Amino acid sequence: EETKSWKKLINIAVSGAAGMISNHLLFKIASGEVFGPNQPVALKLLGSERSIQALEGVAMELEDSLFPLLREVSIGINPYEVFQDAEWALLIGAKPRGPGMERADLLDINGQIFAEQGKALNASASPNVKVIVVGNPCNTNALICMKNAPNIPAKNFHALTRLDENRAKCQLALKAGVFYDQVSNMTIWGNHSTTQVPDFLNARIKGLPVKEVIKDHKWLEEEFTEKVQKRGGVLIKKWGRSSAASTAVSIVDAIRSLITPTPKGDWFSSGVYTNGNPYGIVEDIVFSMPCRSKSEAELLAEKRCVAHLTGEGIGFCDLPEDTMLPGEM
Ligand code: LMR
Repeated sequence: EETKSWKKLINIAVSGAAGMISNHLLFKIASGEVFGPNQPVALKLLGSERSIQALEGVAMELEDSLFPLLREVSIGINPYEVFQDAEWALLIGAKPRGPGMERADLLDINGQIFAEQGKALNASASPNVKVIVVGNPCNTNALICMKNAPNIPAKNFHALTRLDENRAKCQLALKAGVFYDQVSNMTIWGNHSTTQVPDFLNARIKGLPVKEVIKDHKWLEEEFTEKVQKRGGVLIKKWGRSSAASTAVSIVDAIRSLITPTPKGDWFSSGVYTNGNPYGIVEDIVFSMPCRSKSEAELLAEKRCVAHLTGEGIGFCDLPEDTMLPGEM
């Protein structure tokens, strides 16, 4: 029989756990396809009073699936309890927009939620918790959350723009007539809103600049950008609700990008805190830009190098991504 060396159990907190996105995401996490086949997980599910029955149902389904890696499922409505020792916080729960709304219409309603959850993370979560904010307007919600969690490194907070990156890659692949895995270096700049800039100038298809492969520059300049910007809204019109399955997939992609070294020459997009960014973007906001992850091995090596500078008990930020100019690749 195959012997596995199990990694240490990790705690993953998910808000909005009774919602549609989570219903796709949780089963992927429990199956091992997100954190790997040797990584046991504990799922800590945050819901609201209104959703507690549904949350119990979700927990029942997770238990009944007999996932070998799923060692614990707990549910609750108090973020201070649910976020206890969380190493990941996937903040999905928020009021979603309906047809005809912009994501910014949710600023006030959802901002409250993220202020409270930031405080709860600060008080209860692992000091190096990685936070991915999905609930809209996600950039500003991530900022609110971060500002309410001063003990957690600012670079641990992410607003999800991976769905936009995936949408952009899909459109470029379709137009170029190639498989999507041939599209790389796709940056989404800015806000997860209709003002975002999907950067076809720095993106590559089969390693070549997009404009060399897609000769229809009019399409790139006039249609592509708008298509990506408005994809979420168009989908809401069709479904009558916002995207769920593709959002869950993009959360998986985002997590994997953070825990695996980024392939040489490539990058991924994430909404991150702008202080100290190399692009000249105004400071003190959360803005999507190209990011890269370093490998654990590299980080451990760096840690060994500075052993004389790291006293025990001094927390140091080891989040494995950094940013780089597209031109530097
Ligand atoms: C999306 O992009 O599909 C989500 O952010 C939902 C929305 O409001 O568009």
